Amino acid sequence: MTDPVHRPEQAAVRGLLRAVDEALDGPVPREWKEAVAAVPRHRFLPDRIWLENNEGGYGPCDLPTDHQRWFEAAYADAPVITQVNDGQAPADPADAWPSASAPSIVVRMLRDLDVRPGMNVLEIGTGTGWNAALLAHRLGPRHVTSVEIDSDVSEQAWASLNATGLDVDLICGDGSLGWPHRSPYERIISTCSVRRVPWAWIEQTRPGGIILTPWDNPLLCWGLLKLTVERDRAQGRFSPHSAFMLMRNQRHDLRIFRDVVRDDHVPKESATTLPPWNITGDHWEARFALGLRLGDVWTAWEDEPDVDGVAARLWIATTDARSWAAVDHDGEQHDHFTVWQHGPRRLWDEIEAAHHWWEQHDRPTPDRFGLTVTENSQWAWLDRPTCPARALDHKESR
Ligand SMILES: C[S@@+](CC[C@H](N)C(=O)[O-])C[C@H]1O[C@@H](n2cnc3c(N)ncnc32)[C@H](O)[C@@H]1O
Repeated sequence: MTDPVHRPEQAAVRGLLRAVDEALDGPVPREWKEAVAAVPRHRFLPDRIWLENNEGGYGPCDLPTDHQRWFEAAYADAPVITQVNDGQAPADPADAWPSASAPSIVVRMLRDLDVRPGMNVLEIGTGTGWNAALLAHRLGPRHVTSVEIDSDVSEQAWASLNATGLDVDLICGDGSLGWPHRSPYERIISTCSVRRVPWAWIEQTRPGGIILTPWDNPLLCWGLLKLTVERDRAQGRFSPHSAFMLMRNQRHDLRIFRDVVRDDHVPKESATTLPPWNITGDHWEARFALGLRLGDVWTAWEDEPDVDGVAARLWIATTDARSWAAVDHDGEQHDHFTVWQHGPRRLWDEIEAAHHWWEQHDRPTPDRFGLTVTENSQWAWLDRPTCPARALDHKESR
C-alpha cells in the first residue's frame, strides 16, 4: 500500500512527468522517468527560493511560511531561483538566474547525453545537486563527479545528496578547469553556459566521448551544443534549446556610459533601413546567427534618451569596449534610422552585412550551425565544418 505521507509527493512527480513529456519532442525515456520518481526534486531546494511576483519581478518564498507555493514550485516544470546576485549582498532579484533548471531541460539534456550505466561522467555546475543525483541514480555510485564554483551552493548540494544517500564526488572549484583527477570521462555535461568551450574539457574526455553544454553569446544566451571529442578537436552541432546562466569566469560586466562611450568620441553618421529591433527582442534565430558571426558584440536599448527627435536608441558595442554604434528611432519612421559609429570596427555595417548573410542563407536556425574546438581556437560553421560562419576568436583584424 502507498505510504500516505508520500502521496502528495508521488502525485506531484506524476504531474511533473506529464508536463516534461509534453515539453519534450518525444516521451521521457523510462530510465529517466524512474530517476525523476526516485530522486525527489523538492529535497534539493533550499528553504528560501525566489519566485516571480505580480509586479513582473521576483520575491522570496519560504518553505516554513509558504509551504504550498514552495512545494508547487518544486514540482512545476519551471526553473527555480535559489540564489540571487551570486549570493552577494545586496540580494538583488533583478540579478536572478535560475539555479535549479526547469525539469524538462534537465531531462532533455540527460537524454541527449546518451549515458549508459558504468560511464564516468563529469558535471560542471552542481547547483542544487538534483541533476547530479539523477545521473548518480542511473549510473551508480562513484561514476559522477560534479564541480561547483560557489562554496555555499556546493555545501547545500552536499547536504542534499548526503540526505538522499547518492554517491557523487562533489568538488568546489572552477569548472572551466574540469577535474583531471577522475578523468578520462565518457561524458561531460555543463549546466552553466559557455562562450568558449574550455580545452580542459576536451583533454579530459575520451575520444568518441560527448560534451554537452548550453551556449551563450553576448547577443543572446540560447542554444545547446553537443560536441563529439576527436583526437585533436571536438566538433558538433547546436540545437535550439535552453538558456542557462553564464559560467562565472566568462562574464563581462559592461555598461555603455561607464565603459564604452566617452565625451570626446566623434562618431561617424550614416543611415540604415534595417530596423534595429530586427536584431533584438524576439528575433532569436537572427540574433543567434549574428552572435556566431560577430562573436563579441552586445546591445542595450535606451528608451527616450535625452536627444531631440529620438524616441529610442539601440546601443551596440564590442566586449573589448573599443568600438560602438548607436541606431536611433524617431518613434515614427520604420524604414529610416540614423546610425552613429565609432572605433576601429564599424559595428552597424557589420551587423547589416551579417543580417544580409543570414537572409541569403535562408535564415538558418540554430540546428544548421555547429562549432569546432581545437586547442588554440574555436569557430562556428554553417551546415558543415568546412563552411565557417566566422572565426569566433578573431582579434581586431580590420
Ligand atoms: C543552472 S545552475 C546548475 C543547476 C544544477 N545542475 C542543478 O541540478 O540544480 C548553474 C550553476 O553553475 C555554477 N557555476 C557558474 N560558474 C561556474 C564555474 N566556473 N565552475 C563551476 N560552477 C559554476 C553556478 O554557481 C550555478 O550553481
